[in-house]
Amino acid sequence: MGSVEHRFLKGHGAVLGDAGSPPHATPSVRTLRATATVGAELAAVRDVVYVYPDGTRALDGVSFSVGEGERVGLVGPNGAGKSTLLWVLSGLLRPASGEVRWRGRTLDEAGRRRLRARVGLVFQDPDDQLFSPTVWEDVAFGPVQAGLPDAEVSRRVGAALAKVGMSHAKDRPPHHLSEGEKKRVAVATVLAMEPELWLLDEPTAGLDPRARRQLVSLLRELPGAQVVATHDLRLVAELCSRALVLDGGRVVAEGPARTLLRDAELLDRHGLEPWPPPEEAP
Ligand SMILES: Nc1ncnc2c1ncn2[C@@H]1O[C@H](COP(=O)(O)OP(=O)(O)O)[C@@H](O)[C@H]1O
Ligand SMILES: [Mg+2]
Repeated sequence: MGSVEHRFLKGHGAVLGDAGSPPHATPSVRTLRATATVGAELAAVRDVVYVYPDGTRALDGVSFSVGEGERVGLVGPNGAGKSTLLWVLSGLLRPASGEVRWRGRTLDEAGRRRLRARVGLVFQDPDDQLFSPTVWEDVAFGPVQAGLPDAEVSRRVGAALAKVGMSHAKDRPPHHLSEGEKKRVAVATVLAMEPELWLLDEPTAGLDPRARRQLVSLLRELPGAQVVATHDLRLVAELCSRALVLDGGRVVAEGPARTLLRDAELLDRHGLEPWPPPEEAP
């Protein structure tokens, strides 16, 4: 296929298109304090329902928004619907019902296609994102597909690799890199597209402490808004001002990250643990 679409779908079982099913009533959401987005609304979903072709109702009436330059943590146990929500936000999956908005406008079919150029999805597994013979070609893939002139492709790839500290590996095959290096190259493939919104799926999964630290400082420096799906609550504490708890395809809580991450009772109910961990008894 060789299209951008193919890159996003490589290694994933998801199917694009409709999965019709009536929306449920919007569930009540536990709001922990002022949760308005910081800055103007960039992207939002309203009452979104997503049903996989096998009938799994992965999102069951989800509403949330992210503001310009804002970093939001999307936390929840395995199977909560975090990845599915990122895919809906990226415009790759079309919800059965509900609305996806970009800068205040409801997305239609053409809008969703345009959205894909502005939103960058970093997969949980970098092996799903990297498939070219060399690091340089992988980072150039998106800009080339977007039809950018050679000089601009080179400029973007060079800048993206420098930013993630991987210029030295430009001629290496991605599959020879360490997990941490692969992750940074995966970030570079998205950076080269200069997205306005980053969607990061479990970005710290599988990284050792040093690789994790390098990635977290990199994420803190990236331009643009970020939605970070993770069950690594420490990552949310380090990166995000606001957080959302998703469970069973529903938003069950949202609020300032600091407040939410300390709510042991709430987190326990949804298979998570507070950060920082409570003082242990001597
Ligand atoms: N391609 C798929 N086909 C059918 N069900 C899926 C597919 N992908 C995910 N699911 C199901 O949708 C629900 C939400 O999954 P997911 O979005 O991956 O959750 P999370 O990222 O929070 O672990 C789960 O019940 C999962 O098993
Ligand atoms: Mg997931």
